[in-house]
Amino acid sequence: MQIILATNAGFCFGVKRAVQSVYEHLNSSKTIYTLGPIIHNPQVVSDLEQKGVIVEECLDNIEDGTVIIRSHGIGKLAYDELRNKEVEIIDATCPFVKRIHQIVEEHYTEGYDIIIIGEREHPEVKGINGWCNGAAYILNSCDDVDKLSHIDKACVVAQTTITHEKLNNILSRLKPIVSDLKVFDTICHTTSKRQNETKELAKKVDIMLVIGGHNSSNTKKLYSICKNYCKKTFAIETAKEINNKLIRSGDIIGITAGASTPDWIIKEVIDKMDQINNQNSQENTVSMEDFEKTMVSLRNGQIVKGVVLSVNTQEAIVNIGYKADGIISADEVFLEQNQTLEDIIKVGQEIEVEVIKINDGEGNVLLSCKSIQQQKVWNDIQRGYEAGVEFRGKCTQSVKGGVIASINGIRTFVPASQLSTKYVEDLNTFVGKELRLKIIELDKRRNRLVASQRIILEAEEEAKRQSVWDSLKEGEKITGTVKSITDFGVFVDIGGIDGLIHISDLSWGHVKHPSEVLSENQQVEVIVLSFDKAKGRISLGYKQTLPQPWGNADNKYPVGSIVEGKVVRITSFGAFVELEPGVDGLVHISQISNKRINKVEDALKVGDVIDAKVLDVKPEDHKLSLSIKEAKGDNNIQPSKHDDNSSSKYKKEEMKVSLGEFFPEH
Ligand code: F3S
Repeated sequence: MQIILATNAGFCFGVKRAVQSVYEHLNSSKTIYTLGPIIHNPQVVSDLEQKGVIVEECLDNIEDGTVIIRSHGIGKLAYDELRNKEVEIIDATCPFVKRIHQIVEEHYTEGYDIIIIGEREHPEVKGINGWCNGAAYILNSCDDVDKLSHIDKACVVAQTTITHEKLNNILSRLKPIVSDLKVFDTICHTTSKRQNETKELAKKVDIMLVIGGHNSSNTKKLYSICKNYCKKTFAIETAKEINNKLIRSGDIIGITAGASTPDWIIKEVIDKMDQINNQNSQENTVSMEDFEKTMVSLRNGQIVKGVVLSVNTQEAIVNIGYKADGIISADEVFLEQNQTLEDIIKVGQEIEVEVIKINDGEGNVLLSCKSIQQQKVWNDIQRGYEAGVEFRGKCTQSVKGGVIASINGIRTFVPASQLSTKYVEDLNTFVGKELRLKIIELDKRRNRLVASQRIILEAEEEAKRQSVWDSLKEGEKITGTVKSITDFGVFVDIGGIDGLIHISDLSWGHVKHPSEVLSENQQVEVIVLSFDKAKGRISLGYKQTLPQPWGNADNKYPVGSIVEGKVVRITSFGAFVELEPGVDGLVHISQISNKRINKVEDALKVGDVIDAKVLDVKPEDHKLSLSIKEAKGDNNIQPSKHDDNSSSKYKKEEMKVSLGEFFPEH
């Protein structure tokens, strides 16, 4: 356990003077009166009472003897009344309070309204009010100011023990309603010094003990200051009130005391603490000055580490090991859109901060995280850039030639050409979206960062393509999407790479144009016929996924059966007749008619639909012999049909051709 005693703990100059004057008169033969308790400390008052001092609130009860006026002072009427009595007056009013009496009396006489900032029922305030005939406005909060109407001229004084914060807050509300405002800062420097010191001490310790009378205004104020910075703050009047269970052996204990706490009570408290710790008081008690020697020294621009003590949306308080804590305002932290200080700074967190001002005028150290954050972010980005790491960045706006994205708060330009693998029509479609980015240009000195999303997308597509290549197997059936159709075949996307179905592999039958079989964007199953990764070529087959028409041709077209077919090709030795897509039979010129025919074209033309008799079928050789003349059973060719539609569905009625057209002599 370590005990740190505040330098200004205990009796102030004014209180010491008043208490001493009572003790000095104890041997007097006269009765000693104090007007009210000499100080707000029951132990001291009780000790004096035991020594014969009478505490008297009412002047009517005093007729003779010695009357000691306490440091709080009294009003002018009370003075006059005392003077009219047969009593000895010992005026122990604190000189600082006396000065306030003079200011008030003078200005009241000059016609100023008097405003006292302080607690209405505090004896010091009551005494001050007694120097302007009890006519002062007494304001203890900003709300009290709101009850006032316009004042022409006013003189403001403050109770000696209030805080400057309170004084300034009330003054800022007063200024608009008072035309001529004369302000006297009468806060006792001893008080503000004690309060500031207490505040700093409370920030650094585990436990704060505030010693003083429970009815002491300045002790209460010290307690409330400490409570803001040290959760384990306890107000005690004497050592008896210390709760042993709340103190651990490793704790740092801060001790302060109100202005009316005598040294012997403070000593008792320290002794009690030592008893608790079973250690020697001297070894463990250090003065505030000694404690400060252990603190770090600071200079502007210095980077230091600290631990966050508290944080709200406006500021964070950081213990940096200095005698005063540091403040990081929200402006000094790099926040992304919609982020608050509380989102990125947490209580208990150790952070690095830059000292931007050692003293802001109120004893606070001003700190900044901005440059450190930016430096860190730039370092991270630099490392990521060198390692080729992918970043995420929200696109915040479109600009000429590209968009702006934020990578960890750093403004990053993404050129339009680097946004996608495809042409980007409208850049605004990216705004508000998260982009996947790789840094392609970094210039920290000029704060310039350029990134690309396209690189990532291209790499992914390439990886996907490689995976498709690696998985290709000849003869395997795969699914693809028709990407484009040309005269010689169809290109099919099979997962980032294209394969070609040659026109000859589209159908078992005759195909004039690939678009007769497939259409764009159609999903198709294809067979991988062959591929050459080095040349980037893949041959696909579509017809190979369909039934082989010659497979059961001998069953479908038995010898002797009469079949219908369409003339698809004419040669010098006969005509090829398609019975179904992929199955053509040959009608030899000798099998066209019993009549002599010089040229096949004299009897048939491409597109004619004819009946023929199957003479022979050899499926394994893809050969089938047909005879028109045997199908008719006579010497004449009967009227046939003609189909000039390329589909395999013959339109018999429409395509009829008269015998006379072929043989005009008939
Ligand atoms: Fe006087 Fe200041 Fe003490 S006004 S009584 S010295 S707190």
